[in-house]
Amino acid sequence: MRTSQFTIDEQFLKRFSPKKFKQKAIEDYDLKALIEAASSAPSCFNEQPWVFVLGTKEEMLSVLSEANASWAKNAAEIILICSRPQFSRNQKPNRWHAYDCGTAMGYLILEALRRDIYAHPMGGFKAEKAVELFELKELQPHAAVALGYRDEAHTMTPRKALDDIIIDRRSV
Ligand SMILES: Cc1cc2nc3c(=O)[nH]c(=O)nc-3n(C[C@H](O)[C@H](O)[C@H](O)COP(=O)(O)O)c2cc1C
Repeated sequence: MRTSQFTIDEQFLKRFSPKKFKQKAIEDYDLKALIEAASSAPSCFNEQPWVFVLGTKEEMLSVLSEANASWAKNAAEIILICSRPQFSRNQKPNRWHAYDCGTAMGYLILEALRRDIYAHPMGGFKAEKAVELFELKELQPHAAVALGYRDEAHTMTPRKALDDIIIDRRSV
């Protein structure tokens, strides 16, 4: 588990992206709960641009990069998150659709963790193949996420120091 300088919630400290998972299925109820949590995220004009694709393991692995498929084959589920790049209210481009999906994915990951399910997001997938296979008309796929119960001790990845990620103009 990470340590915290400012006493943030334990969920943030224990989250990591595993590559090994127990051979234990995720109940459909839990899977839907993760998507419900994701759908509670804020979005620009409340567009809720996200769409979550669930598929068979075989289908999902076929759209991943080979490197990701080699370990994600042990995950209990793999979901693809996509979104509509236009606002449904006026068909104008929604510049924030991908941003909104990132927020939704964050919510999904944290609800998963609350249920002891670990998530590993993946940008390494074949977008064109996914569009064709899942008939994602008017949808842009952003990332896949492997989900399952963890099966490994893990060395946490490092984080940048806060001083390196904050621009503080208050005392200038
Ligand atoms: C948008 C995105 C794309 C990612 N793509 C991959 C990927 O293709 N393969 C992979 O093994 N991990 C991928 N990751 C996982 C990151 O490498 C991981 O989150 C990062 O190294 C930090 O480690 P942690 O999640 O364990 O804290 C991705 C994460 C994000 C958010």
